[in-house]
Amino acid sequence: MPPARRARFDRMLRPVHRWVWGDFDRRVRKLIAFAEVEGDGGRDILRAAELTPDPLLRRLYLAHAIDELHHADLFRQRSAALLQTRSTRVKTLFNASPLPGGHGLDDLRIEGEPDHRLLAFLHVAEKAAAGRFAIYRDVVDDDPSTRAVFEEILRDEVFHMNYTYTQLARIAPQSHRRQVWLARASRLWKRYVRVAVAVADVLGTMILTIQYFILMPPFAWLAKRAQRREPRGWIPISRDRSDSPTSAY
Ligand SMILES: [Fe+2]
Ligand SMILES: [Fe+2]
Repeated sequence: MPPARRARFDRMLRPVHRWVWGDFDRRVRKLIAFAEVEGDGGRDILRAAELTPDPLLRRLYLAHAIDELHHADLFRQRSAALLQTRSTRVKTLFNASPLPGGHGLDDLRIEGEPDHRLLAFLHVAEKAAAGRFAIYRDVVDDDPSTRAVFEEILRDEVFHMNYTYTQLARIAPQSHRRQVWLARASRLWKRYVRVAVAVADVLGTMILTIQYFILMPPFAWLAKRAQRREPRGWIPISRDRSDSPTSAY
């Protein structure tokens, strides 16, 4: 999706983001989920720093990994601080977020990935994160501490977005734009597969429920009718039968 259209799309979704972040429980859960994604992303980028043969990229990946691990700490501390203000409990009907998360680093694969593919993936993920965190910062204006966390993290994400693109252009000057498009297409495909799995899950549940209420009643009725035709009590065994009732054969 072109950046201008994406920005317009995100603006349209702003009321939904406000609704998601407006609930205390959802806010805490989102922060905890972000802490996990940032921490996992930080560890993966640390692994990338170990594997890259490029000394400059190794330094940059290391700084990037430290930033992501710091973000994980910030999100975790903020969620813990919010939890201390009052105990959370599931009180809303719908407690999850219908929108994708901020970072997208959970799709990151390091092993066997060349630097140009990794940098393209990171650039796309960081750009998405910067856009999302800017929205989250604006919609939590009732909570200055959470807003400050997003403000701080947003600055780092913008740096990550820029350095990944600059380095991609350095190591793949001929193909860096194509790499970014490929990374964007791969990300969209993964999103589509996730949505398709979720839709298939809902449809499967609906079809099984409909089957239960439409197909089961006739069989239940037939079984009850057959039961009524069965004689009650003990049934005498005919004298013609010679096999023992206690024998297994
Ligand atoms: Fe981050
Ligand atoms: Fe980042």
